[in-house]
Amino acid sequence: MKPVWLGPKRAARLAERFGTPTYAYSAKILRGRCRAMTRAFPATQIRYAMKANANPTLLRRIRAEGIGVDTVSRYEVRLAKELGFARKDILYSGNNPDNEELDAVHRAGVMLNLDALSSLRRYGARFPNSPVSLRMNLEIGAGHHPHVVTAGPDSKFGLSVDDLPEAEAIARRFGMRIVGLHQHIGSGVFELDLFLRAMEPLIQLLPRFPALEFVDVGGGFGVPYRDDEADIDLEHWGQQIRARIGRAVADLGRPLRLAIEPGRYLVCEAGVLVTRVTTVKRTQDRTFVGVDSGMHHLIRPALYQSYHPLTAWPRREGTPERCFVVGPICESGDVLAEERTLVAPEEGDLVVIANAGAYGYAMASHYNLRARPAEVLVDGDAMKRIRGRERYRDLVRAGDLRPRG
Ligand code: LLP
Repeated sequence: MKPVWLGPKRAARLAERFGTPTYAYSAKILRGRCRAMTRAFPATQIRYAMKANANPTLLRRIRAEGIGVDTVSRYEVRLAKELGFARKDILYSGNNPDNEELDAVHRAGVMLNLDALSSLRRYGARFPNSPVSLRMNLEIGAGHHPHVVTAGPDSKFGLSVDDLPEAEAIARRFGMRIVGLHQHIGSGVFELDLFLRAMEPLIQLLPRFPALEFVDVGGGFGVPYRDDEADIDLEHWGQQIRARIGRAVADLGRPLRLAIEPGRYLVCEAGVLVTRVTTVKRTQDRTFVGVDSGMHHLIRPALYQSYHPLTAWPRREGTPERCFVVGPICESGDVLAEERTLVAPEEGDLVVIANAGAYGYAMASHYNLRARPAEVLVDGDAMKRIRGRERYRDLVRAGDLRPRG
């Protein structure tokens, strides 16, 4: 296992200063991942899929590395613009947008990447003569869990090749220029061959669209969570993907920009969730390590049976036990780590859950009326709160319920 970047001393200092549970992000790892991406994909429009983690401070840092954003809702677009992302560096790829959302994104001056004939028709009718991008579903999907496979026959995403004549007719009717072709096959992909194979049918479509300015092959770059998973060779991925698109552009005989939209790869390993053990309970055959965070803060283990590496501080001596790290939520699925053989931590110890920077805070909820944690940026020796811990009033603000106190 890669050592957790937040060691015992700094973890204790962080917990002391900001309390627990807290999401902590390493500025150094974030920067490293962004630079690895920009190095592997020169002359490419890189747009970070901000659904993975939309903390404004992290977004600013990502922008400073010359990376744009892939957005999926009008509020993601709004936040991106408020943080200074240029319109040309924002793409909207929302799924099943209503008309209000089409209006809001169009008003924001951002390019829409649409994936249903209905959305295209409604967008064209409302805003004739707009440029537009098409999201395709070309049969090959992939991902670490069925829930995150976003192409293939069972997927709700994308237009099929059979939809294209109608899509082109709609575009003609409303004077829309099809300037982008896009696909995203899924999340957590480790096989370069599969990724390249999935690009082929997209590449076959390029000559069909004379006004095309970019081809976007999506995100999904895998990050290892388990000991038996290895880092992908990003340089090699970059070379191969760029080479294939380079050949396609040469055949095409007109310029075309490559675009990608990694989410997890940039933020996953930068983030840890620092929790404190509240309760240790031993039953006949297992040890429950109850911590002050759970599925409401990190739903990935409950939702996808995802494995997250973890470390407990301080190191304890003793006999390893069959530990289950669980939270305070009233569901038996409220598990952060299933069956780990380790020396059980004691009440008051810290459990640091790694690889929590992507789809961690972003998917947190208020289930059981529990508050979301604080977020802290660790930059060398400096630690800075970049989002406050929620309080009662943050949870009941909705609707006409006026909290008192
Ligand atoms: N582009 C589009 C259109 C997407 O839908 C996604 C992710 C991405 C890019 C970025 O994919 P990435 O590079 O992060 O793999 N909550 C799940 C992941 C869901 C991903 C959804 N779409 C998880 O925790 O594993």
